[in-house]
Amino acid sequence: MCGIVAYVGSRRAYPILIKGLQRLEYRGYDSAGIALITDDNNSIVTYKQAGKVSDLLEFIGDNDTNGSIGIGHTRWATHGPPNQINSHPHSSSDGSFSLIHNGIIENYSSLKKVLEEKGYIFKSDTDSEVLMYLIECVYKTQLKESKDICGDLFYDSIRIALNEVVGAYAIVVIDKNNSEEFYAARKGSPLVIGIGNNEFFVASDASPIIEYTDKVIYLKDEEVARLNKNQEVEIKTIDNKKKSADIQKLEQSIESIEKGGYDHFMLKEIFEQPKSIIDTLRGRINPKTNDIVLGGVKDYESKISTADRLIIIACGTSWHAGLIGEYLIEDLARINVEVEYASEFRYKNPIVTNKDIVIAISQSGETADTLAALEIAKENGALTLGICNVVGSSITRTTSGGTYTHAGPEIGVASTKAFTTQVTVLLLFALRFSQLRKTVDRENYDFLINELNAVPERINQVLNLNDSIEKIALKFKDASNFLYLGRGVNFPIALEGALKLKEISYIHAEGYPAAEMKHGPIALIDEEMPIVVIATRKDNYEKVVSNIQEVKARGGRLIAIVTEGDTEVKSIADHCIEIPKCFREITPLLSIIPLQLLSYHIALMRGCNVDQPRNLAKSVTVE
Ligand code: AGP
Repeated sequence: MCGIVAYVGSRRAYPILIKGLQRLEYRGYDSAGIALITDDNNSIVTYKQAGKVSDLLEFIGDNDTNGSIGIGHTRWATHGPPNQINSHPHSSSDGSFSLIHNGIIENYSSLKKVLEEKGYIFKSDTDSEVLMYLIECVYKTQLKESKDICGDLFYDSIRIALNEVVGAYAIVVIDKNNSEEFYAARKGSPLVIGIGNNEFFVASDASPIIEYTDKVIYLKDEEVARLNKNQEVEIKTIDNKKKSADIQKLEQSIESIEKGGYDHFMLKEIFEQPKSIIDTLRGRINPKTNDIVLGGVKDYESKISTADRLIIIACGTSWHAGLIGEYLIEDLARINVEVEYASEFRYKNPIVTNKDIVIAISQSGETADTLAALEIAKENGALTLGICNVVGSSITRTTSGGTYTHAGPEIGVASTKAFTTQVTVLLLFALRFSQLRKTVDRENYDFLINELNAVPERINQVLNLNDSIEKIALKFKDASNFLYLGRGVNFPIALEGALKLKEISYIHAEGYPAAEMKHGPIALIDEEMPIVVIATRKDNYEKVVSNIQEVKARGGRLIAIVTEGDTEVKSIADHCIEIPKCFREITPLLSIIPLQLLSYHIALMRGCNVDQPRNLAKSVTVE
């Protein structure tokens, strides 16, 4: 979703902003813009354009881009279409100030009405311009009423205006009369401040900052920072309480956000999965005793061991991981698990009490619906835990405890390594909870730990099949629909396989529990319809074989994911992809790999932008 980048210091701001916007492209956007305070210190020059950052660059051409303070933005349209006028930055009505904004101002229409009554004329359809004018209006009112104008007037105006706002925001505001500083504030949308030598960087995430500094501050909700290149950072809450800056060390490396020789981030991230799973497991399984230690969950183990149920809340791919978690935790730890779409949970008047444990799963840790659902769980007294990838993200700060997936930055919009590391954490949860509740005997427990440790090597074996999967992709690239079928722990894999295909190739795809096929989707099957079936051993294999027969009898074209050495399905299916033998609970971590690769190759063959699919955002910070 929208991306923010800003710079103040003594370097030229323009190249830093452009590079920053390029680093933020992965978040998903449909227009881009920058504003700079020019060196003569008296005006703000703004360039914005619908389309990609490359379109913005072309539009700017040889125009003036001097200045060592500026703001840049990639917009994912919410209020009004992605055109030049609606793009950010938005200037104040008199051109003195300029603002970039992420998030949604929910009460924007009532604020707009009041401002219109005061004579403000809006140029754009956006809620962000309303916020800019509101800040300007407060500033002008304060200026008129203030007998003794101090340097804090603009700072205070931003603060006071933000008190009027209902909704989410991350903003940076510049003032054309002050080229030494700008202001940044957040609520519900992430914002990171990078501290250099007499310079500051601000961004929606660390990717535009990483190459300049490793000293960062994660601004908290309802905090406003004044960033003056000649002074220490100054932070106040919107109700005017001074806060000290919590400066942290950024642990990411620049390599982790670059393609490293791969054609696309998605391919790199698919191939990184053996390593990312090693990172997820690192230090969490005692090599001598096989005991699982989850630092962020340890304090809540007595509550977990007596819990009647767990509720998992998540969206999209993370919800699919949650569904796998349900199978794993119910099977191994015998705790009742309910998996809910966060967007449904938050509005359904959910039954949740202080006896419940609510686990939020989110790669970004910023998904608006998941955050809102968590708040409801907290209000009702539930213990909240998170499974997140992004360190310091909003969900990790909202929950009482939890476990990081340590997948490293995931830049491709379609989740791959984030998903498999979420499933890995859920396996750790299921096994640890089974230890606490004594539901799995020692022999089976040790066997499962060995199976888990073997996953990275087994994924490598599946990745070796990339070339043959590409050949299969070539045969199916022109299909208009796909059906994905699986049972048990592989039913959510059918859903995830279908989601991967539709989000990056724009082919319509559905995932179904294999047995449900005859209750409806079977009507779709003809010679044109490709069906992907996960038919691995030990997971209701014979039942799945029957489902495959039903598909074949109706002329469907079959791609089957089978266990190595399989002969039965091989004799029926048109194409088989073999994955190594493994324990049933482990299969999803292997069976998803060929489906990720299949989607990747099909999307590429159809000329799609696999890393930045149309209309999608990496981090969905609006509901
Ligand atoms: C995954 O490929 C999607 N891009 C999307 O479904 C994603 O999983 C969903 O938006 C949830 O995001 P989160 O994990 O950051 O909360």
